[in-house]
Amino acid sequence: MFAARQALRSVPRQARLFSSSAPARTKVAVLGAGGGIGQPLSLLLKVEPLVSQLSLYDIRGAPGVAADVSHVDTNSTVRGFTADALDQALEGAEVVVIPAGVPRKPGMTRDDLFNTNASIVRDLATAVGRVAPTAKILIISNPVNSTVPIVAETLAKAGVFDPRRLFGVTTLDVVRAARFLSEVTGQDPASTPVTVVGGHSGVTIVPLLSQSSFGKGVQGETLSKLVHRIQYGGDEVVAAKDGAGSATLSMAYAATVFTNALLRAINGEENVVCPTFVRSPLFESQGVDFFSSNVELGPEGVKTIFPIGDLSAEEQALIDACLPELKKNIEKGKSFVNAA
Ligand code: NAI
Repeated sequence: MFAARQALRSVPRQARLFSSSAPARTKVAVLGAGGGIGQPLSLLLKVEPLVSQLSLYDIRGAPGVAADVSHVDTNSTVRGFTADALDQALEGAEVVVIPAGVPRKPGMTRDDLFNTNASIVRDLATAVGRVAPTAKILIISNPVNSTVPIVAETLAKAGVFDPRRLFGVTTLDVVRAARFLSEVTGQDPASTPVTVVGGHSGVTIVPLLSQSSFGKGVQGETLSKLVHRIQYGGDEVVAAKDGAGSATLSMAYAATVFTNALLRAINGEENVVCPTFVRSPLFESQGVDFFSSNVELGPEGVKTIFPIGDLSAEEQALIDACLPELKKNIEKGKSFVNAA
């Protein structure tokens, strides 16, 4: 299973494992690099040994962020790109991470961001499809349940959609689940990983605590409170920031964990498995064709999509609540592209 901290820790170990043939280091672009997530994410990717070149793009501020992080004494190179240089930023990119778009303010749901972020994500996806059509695309911009289908439809219209290469980043839910469970059990979060499936908002976030060695002991009211906290943990940050945005630092960490996992898989590491929101057959018969479950990553991106496994009665009820909402969110994303 996926342990977020272990993923970061394992980089030097992997570097040693592959020392006889050095890993092919990867060019990564960040679109939205000047923002609350983009800045710390750019820094963390600068210290990621599997990155060779970092392209930082934003409609404002990316050259400054690039100049700043470029001084960090790691072996990658960094370039910043202004609003008019999106194509140049994407040239040769093998992995494109997208945190561009507006974040929530108190009282907002992620769906409230749709009107602004849908067109931002569609336009960026159009450019990726044109300039870097074989890049793996990691979507952070909310609402992820809709923005991922938007990217898929946009790429499909351009004739370059490959479902193996598109990921909604739901890692923050996995990170939160491990941390919040550890606060209940008193264990180190590194030893209490939790698989989180479904989507990335409210009721669509389904933590499978019964499959976790420590989580399965949590019952009754403690369990319902823990599930609710995992589903709505983002609201704690939005409320505490009081109008100044949503999770940025923990999100940058989570995105780095996922990017690291993908880079390790691209470099041939086996058994890299983590939950991510992808084009999925698991609930397709119920009209839900994007879903997050454990996915084994490989050199081409998605290698194997694992079923969600045995569920407790409580988890089955959570899945039942998740699916109709997720279906609505996915359809909203698709019709945004197809109505245009
Ligand atoms: P922010 O407002 O601090 O930064 C967003 C950045 O995107 C800004 O620098 C802005 O200039 C840039 N941007 C806007 N339009 C752009 C375009 N067309 N091309 C390139 N860059 C563009 O927002 P923050 O806090 O960084 O959040 C970004 C997104 O990530 C939001 O949609 C937020 O809801 C989402 N998010 C997702 C999470 C997840 O778990 N997947 C967790 C937390 C936030």
